[in-house]
Amino acid sequence: MTEMQIKSLLDAAVSAMERAYAPYSNFHVGAALLARDGRIFTGCNIENASYPVTICAERAALSSAVSAGLREFSAIAIVGGHHGKMEDICTPCGICRQALSEFCSPETPVYLGKIDGYTTLTLGELLPHSFHLKEDLS
Ligand code: THU
Repeated sequence: MTEMQIKSLLDAAVSAMERAYAPYSNFHVGAALLARDGRIFTGCNIENASYPVTICAERAALSSAVSAGLREFSAIAIVGGHHGKMEDICTPCGICRQALSEFCSPETPVYLGKIDGYTTLTLGELLPHSFHLKEDLS
């Protein structure tokens, strides 16, 4: 991806983060998934008074994309921070790594943005040996 494409994916994640509903942790997260057809799907974290009901930004973005019929992705950008300040990179939680591994290859770049730059990792680096069902369950 070009620097410009990475920048616009990170910008989309920041815009999504601005819509985070996080009154309990005050930790705001935004994610932007780039679908193979070029469209960008975003998500923010959505907290709940019953804490475990919370949906992470990455899975919100995945839900949006998959619900729209997209199942192949070429990159994801993630940003976050206390009150959205983005002082450090925000790495995806374990559940989100596994959720992403259902639809993204281990080579998929994960751009982790912060206020003064970004770090690139692959999904395989974040989640080696991810779980997949290999047998035919039909
Ligand atoms: N959060 C995400 O949205 N994504 C992650 O990968 C890590 C955590 C959210 C969940 C919760 O609303 C807040 O960050 C603090 O855990």
